[in-house]
Formats: sequence, structure tokens, C-alpha cells
Amino acid sequence: MRVAAGDVAGILCLVSVAAALDFKYHHAEELEAYLKGVHAAYPSFTHLHSIGRSVEGRDLWVLVLGRFPTHHKIGIPEFKYVANMHGDETVGREMLLHLIDFLVTSYRRDPVITRLLNNTRIHIMPTMNPDGFEATKVPDCYYTPGRYNKNGEDLNRNFPDAFENNNASIQPETQAVMDWIKNETFVLSANLHGGALVASYTFDNGNSVTGSLKGYSRSLDDDVFIHLAKTYSFNHASMYKGTGCDNRQTFPEGITNGYSWYQLEGGMQDYNYIWGQCFEITLELSCCKYPPANQLEKFWRDNKAALIEYIKQVHLGVKGQVTGKNGTPIPNAIVEAKGRAHVCPYRTNQHGEYFLLLLPGTYVINATVPGFKSMLKTVEIPDNTGNFSALKQDFSFPEVSIKPEAPSCPKIPLYQEFERASAAVKPTLHILALMTVMLVIFK
Ligand SMILES: *[C@@H]1O[C@H](CO)[C@@H](O)[C@H](O)[C@H]1NC(C)=O
Ligand SMILES: *[C@@H]1O[C@H](CO)[C@@H](O)[C@H](O)[C@H]1NC(C)=O
Ligand SMILES: *[C@@H]1O[C@H](CO)[C@@H](O)[C@H](O)[C@H]1NC(C)=O
Ligand SMILES: *[C@@H]1O[C@H](CO)[C@@H](O)[C@H](O)[C@H]1NC(C)=O
Ligand SMILES: *[C@@H]1O[C@H](CO)[C@@H](O)[C@H](O)[C@H]1NC(C)=O
Ligand SMILES: [Zn+2]
Repeated sequence: MRVAAGDVAGILCLVSVAAALDFKYHHAEELEAYLKGVHAAYPSFTHLHSIGRSVEGRDLWVLVLGRFPTHHKIGIPEFKYVANMHGDETVGREMLLHLIDFLVTSYRRDPVITRLLNNTRIHIMPTMNPDGFEATKVPDCYYTPGRYNKNGEDLNRNFPDAFENNNASIQPETQAVMDWIKNETFVLSANLHGGALVASYTFDNGNSVTGSLKGYSRSLDDDVFIHLAKTYSFNHASMYKGTGCDNRQTFPEGITNGYSWYQLEGGMQDYNYIWGQCFEITLELSCCKYPPANQLEKFWRDNKAALIEYIKQVHLGVKGQVTGKNGTPIPNAIVEAKGRAHVCPYRTNQHGEYFLLLLPGTYVINATVPGFKSMLKTVEIPDNTGNFSALKQDFSFPEVSIKPEAPSCPKIPLYQEFERASAAVKPTLHILALMTVMLVIFK
């Protein structure tokens, strides 16, 4: 086995780092010490940074893992997990620490994890609401005020919304995540919650255009989202059974459309999909929001395979580069699959790259440099599961020598215009209000 020089010291103290992560709740100082210890032990394939601070000044830590942890590499997709945005939903926070522990101790030992980390850049944020976690003093299965940040705001209602004006003032934790999403070209993500057992997918909000009258708010990528949610539920020990938390058949196959469950405004997953070019689902991992620490080991056993299989899905579909004259990358080119135009078009990053999550099948990919004509290519997307690479398809525009400055998508309710143009009516308000009041306590 060849070992990078920087990791020799790491392997020597590996035992102490690994042993340090027991099944208990890690409060702010312990969490920080653990992440710093991991980075010190595995400097060649981890990177630790804070993307901002909470209202009370706690760092919002992100540990990045991958062969090139400090920066994006062309062709390597960016993945993220975010937990504990509701401070009193605590299982995800500990699951992500155990996931880190598992990944660092498996790299160069387990061939699958080695390939995963060689071909994926994985960003892990164990807590988005560290103040809310510290405010929740003792385990409690039900709602506590620790759900909110220090200003009393629900962070999963705090993002710009595509369907209506969100009047909540953007919190520091939310702003940090928005800046982070803008900085990295994330492709796939999940946010981890508690209070139910289900994988819930976009949209959480909706209007008649997306199908709200039928009680389901459907994106054009609904097939991909269903696949993503099922990847989690069927690799989980019991989520796929769909029995929810009261032994009744609540969620068939352990998944649900967010809006079908209950409508919400300003959620993080819709924001990722609309403005972040990132597919995100919401994972409810435990019926009890803050269970006793002696259950954490079982939660880890139940979730471990699902957490890993879900990351692999970042390699679905097709990816590539759009280049112009002399092969220079073209940023801000619009690249989308025909029939799946996003309301805020998905654009290439500064390296001219695009990543489109699509299930196996035949698609027409439309690459458009603003001001020039479009180029259409038919691609046959194979079942790439386990290959750790999406299909590659580049686009070349040799006549283009400019770098288009696409205006970034405005943060206004982008679906409102569609609704005005349609004749349909909204569902009666009192039904929405009733659903919201009854169920507002989970995601
Ligand atoms: C992973 O990357 C390292 C280089 O950083 C290389 O030595 C190793 O062979 C790669 N392993 C696999 C399975 O791709
Ligand atoms: C937000 O404010 C706008 C304009 O002030 C208002 O029309 C809208 O109803 C408000 N939205 C909510 C959810 O309160
Ligand atoms: C985003 O990138 C800029 C420029 O590199 C950096 O200064 C800033 O800290 C980054 N913010 C986040 C949240 O990653
Ligand atoms: C290709 O995409 C561009 C930009 O979104 C759009 O204007 C054009 O109509 C699309 N072409 C086809 C054939 O779908
Ligand atoms: C798997 O990926 C390699 C490149 O990494 C590619 O050459 C090969 O065709 C892929 N196989 C499938 C089935 O997509
Ligand atoms: Zn929640």
C-alpha cells in the first residue's frame, strides 16, 4: 500500500481519532475538535472550512472529502449533505459525523469508497443551526424552540421562494448557505431532518402550473427525484416499508412529494433546485426528533448504506464541457435536456462545465451560447450505476470567442408568471392553512 507522506502522521493517530468518535451527541466544542482532528489526521484528502457564522457566532463547519479536497477539478461533481438545520432534529448531525469517520477510515482500504472519493468531491455540514442545537438542552421527541435559529426563524422557511414572495428576513445561516451554493457547482444534495421517516422531494411549494390542484407539485425532473428518494428509502433498513411512525401505511415506498405531504414556503430543497442547479431531497431520519444517545448506533446501522448509495447518484446522467474558439471554456452557456428546461436555466460554470442528472435513456441535449444558435445532440445515457462517472458529452462552438455574462437568475417568484398566464384557480386557502397548522413541525 502506498501512503502519501502527509498521511503518515495521520495513520499513526488514526486509532485515537477513530476511537474518539463514540455514539453520543457531540456539542459545539466536541464537534469542532473532532472535525479538526480528522483534518489533521487525513490532510491529503480532507479540507475543513467554515462557510460563515450563526447568530451567536458559532462557525458553520464544512468538511470536504475527495482526492482534490481544496478545489473543484474539471469532471469531478460536487456533492453535499447538510444536517441539523432544525436545531432539535439531531440524528442527522451525528450520522454525518459517523459518515465522515467511515469515509476517512475506508479510503485506500475499501475499493468502492476509494473510487467514490477519487471521483467525487463530498461536502459535509453536520450542523446548519448550531445555536438551535445548543438551545435544546435535553433529548425530546417532539417540537422544541431549538428548531429555530437564535432569532426565532425557521431556516427551512427562510430561502427565496419560486412561487410567492418570502417576506422572512434572510438569516446569517441561510445567507452563508446561499453564498456556498453560489461558490460551488453542487450537483446533488440532501438535507437531514427528524420527526418522521421518509424521503421527501421537490417541490415543497407549488401552484396550478406544477400540479397543486392535484395535490402534487411536480418538477420536470420528477422521475429523477423519485429515483433519488427511492435510492435512499430502499437502502435504508426500514424507510422503504413506508409505515411512517405510527405503523400505518403512510408513505408508499418511503417517499413523498414535498407538497403532497404538506406545502411550505421558503424551503431549502426548492431553492437548491431552482437557483442552485442542484437536486436536493429532504430526509426525515427518525420518528423521535432528538432520541436518547443510546439509539445512535442503531440509527447509524440503519442509515449507513443509504447515505453511501445516495452519494453515488451524483454520477447519474451526462456531463461535459462547452468550449469556443481554440477550446477555451464558455461559462454561462445554457445546457439542458429537451423537455426539461428549468425555470431558471441551468448554465455552465466558469470552466464551461455542465452536469445533468438523468436516468438511463435517450435524450436530446440542447447547448446554447446566448447570442448564437443552439446545438442539439442526441445522447444515449447508459446505466452507469457503479461506474463513478456520468456519460461524457462535450460541445464545441469554434466560432464563439466571447465569454457571455449571463445575468444571474432574479430571486423573484419565477413560477408566478406561469400561473398568471394559466386560467386555473388556486386551491382554497383554508385547506392549505389547515394542512400547514397540523403538520408544520417536521421538514
Ligand atoms: C485513487 O487515487 C489515487 C491517487 O490519488 C491513486 O493512487 C489510486 O490508484 C486511485 N484508486 C482508485 C481505485 O481509483
Ligand atoms: C409578502 O409581502 C408581499 C408584498 O408586501 C405580499 O403581497 C405577500 O402577501 C406577502 N407574503 C406573505 C406570505 O405574507
Ligand atoms: C465564496 O468564495 C469567495 C471567493 O473565493 C470567498 O471569499 C468566500 O468566503 C466564499 N464563501 C463561501 C460561503 O464559501
Ligand atoms: C434550446 O435552448 C434555448 C435556450 O434555452 C432555447 O431558446 C431553444 O428554444 C432550445 N431549442 C430547442 C430546439 O429546444
Ligand atoms: C465507465 O466510465 C469510463 C470512464 O471513466 C468509460 O470509459 C466507460 O465507457 C463507462 N462505462 C459505462 C457503462 O458507462
Ligand atoms: Zn426539520
